[in-house]
Amino acid sequence: MDNRPIGIFDSGLGGLTALSALRTLMPEENLVYFADTARNPYGTRTPEQLRRMAGENLAFLARFGVKAVIAACGTMSTNALDVLGESKIPVVNVLEPSVAAMAAVKSPGPLAVIATDASIRSGGYTRALQRACPGRKVTALACQEFVHLCETGHTAPDDPLVREAVSRCLTPLSAAKPAALLLGCTHFGLMADAIRSCLGADVTLVSAAICAARACRSLLEATGLTGGSGEEVLYTSGSLQEFEEKAEHFLHRPVKAFYSSAGE
Ligand code: DGL
Repeated sequence: MDNRPIGIFDSGLGGLTALSALRTLMPEENLVYFADTARNPYGTRTPEQLRRMAGENLAFLARFGVKAVIAACGTMSTNALDVLGESKIPVVNVLEPSVAAMAAVKSPGPLAVIATDASIRSGGYTRALQRACPGRKVTALACQEFVHLCETGHTAPDDPLVREAVSRCLTPLSAAKPAALLLGCTHFGLMADAIRSCLGADVTLVSAAICAARACRSLLEATGLTGGSGEEVLYTSGSLQEFEEKAEHFLHRPVKAFYSSAGE
């Protein structure tokens, strides 16, 4: 029994898709969530900035005595994998478990990944998918503008802004005809219904955030680190009220957040 919390961080609301999946899988765990909203979006930043910020976010969560961290961010996982891996605290990234889940997709045909500009630019997802799924064509597409839509509360499939952006950005996928699509940015899980209604039910959607939550559970179970009393503390480096409102909308329950920047 280990009551120490699990830390989760992202540039904003996207990592809540990992928090919510982890809550379902491990309701008893104590969680500390850090939404680095003030520095959102991460996907337009350079690898150098992202590596420094990954270290800052880990240091912030370490102050809570966390037993493990989920880097619930594809942009950090592709650009700062080595920084995450060097941490003394075990860190689960979203890249490795989600690529493993894509490799397990049985339906034949090409694979695709959508993620932020910086994730796609890094080539991290493409390289890992090609290595894990030899012989399958991989299409990688940056959909950075989805992050802003999510952060401003536009996620519903019937929202005209969402419908327009999803159908325009995903146009290249109608030619690629993927059997499975990896949502390589954790924000995109918030728009999963809109993405599904654009692509149709035949495409298997793999959520990087849910894969990371599962990997975190496996890690804690394998190392005997499970335990807690279901507590949850959320921090944002941005506006408290805005974060609370949007987090409540997604999580369907009251949310109390606190302010902190990663560096404080
Ligand atoms: N949710 C993050 C990701 O998975 C970051 C999105 C952003 O801030 O651009 O990449």
